[in-house]
Amino acid sequence: MLERLNNFERAINKKLDSFLTESNQNFEIFRPHKLVSAMRHAVFNGGKRLRPYLMVEIASFLGANKKSVFQTACALECLHCYSLVHDDLPAMDNDDLRRGKLTVHRKFDEATAILTGDALLTLSFDLIASDQENLNSDMRVELTMLLARAAGLGGMVGGQILDLEAEGRTLNQNQIHQFQSMKTGTLIRFACEAGAIIGQANKNERAALVKYGEIIGLAFQLSDDLLDVLSTEENLGKAVSKDHQRGKKTIVSLMKLESAQKQMKNLISQANDQLKNFGERARVLNEISQFIGERKA
Ligand code: IPE
Ligand code: IPE
Ligand code: MG
Ligand code: MG
Ligand code: MG
Repeated sequence: MLERLNNFERAINKKLDSFLTESNQNFEIFRPHKLVSAMRHAVFNGGKRLRPYLMVEIASFLGANKKSVFQTACALECLHCYSLVHDDLPAMDNDDLRRGKLTVHRKFDEATAILTGDALLTLSFDLIASDQENLNSDMRVELTMLLARAAGLGGMVGGQILDLEAEGRTLNQNQIHQFQSMKTGTLIRFACEAGAIIGQANKNERAALVKYGEIIGLAFQLSDDLLDVLSTEENLGKAVSKDHQRGKKTIVSLMKLESAQKQMKNLISQANDQLKNFGERARVLNEISQFIGERKA
């Protein structure tokens, strides 16, 4: 799994590189050097590329040509990188380190970090809506709408405000699951649904893949919260023990470590249950859920 993911990282980085250049695209007037540098700092700094990987693997096991997924996969990764740039801002989680490097506002400044996020977000919608190999306009409209809903008010951004509001307050498990499935789950769910759409899944296949995405989305945030307690800054490339320090509400803050780890095992097995009808074809998705359950970084 890791070798395959590493190979994928190289391929997707090459594609991302082609979109983050200083040369103008049609209808653009000029691309400022500082903004391009900050966007590249935000994108090319050792992210795992898990979301685009999921999308491409799903579409390709369903029979799509990998090339037809790459631009949508890049759109999602740009949006994810924007979410991290803003998440790290002093007004939000106030972090200095991301993926082993200075966060964008520390390397540049806060205004640049805000604008970098804005520019990555809008680039994401440019990529998803514009012409792409083998994707007709109906598909692109559907993908654009789903990405907007995953990223916005009732999705990632909504989840981020609930996460901030929860600091220092008492929340139950359902409330924590709700905002975590928004702030993190929606983009992972989108990765799976977009893969299903591009791979032309039937209704049942698509529903199973969406459910799989929702479950591993929760598992992914749980693993992030566990690693905040169990891992090191060196391993993760970002500060650890931050959640407790800031009074973040996580599943790990709510229960014993062993109970949270048990919950993780349950989520992974529920995720894998969604894959039964796909048989051997979905083996890579079993590997991805396993990876999420056991990851150390
Ligand atoms: C970190 O996401 C933020 C969360 C949603 C938990 P990742 O762990 O996927 O970050 P990168 O992209 O690999 O750096
Ligand atoms: C971030 O969650 C979720 C996003 C939407 C960016 P965290 O705040 O826990 O992510 P890290 O730990 O900073 O990567
Ligand atoms: Mg946060
Ligand atoms: Mg954070
Ligand atoms: Mg975290």
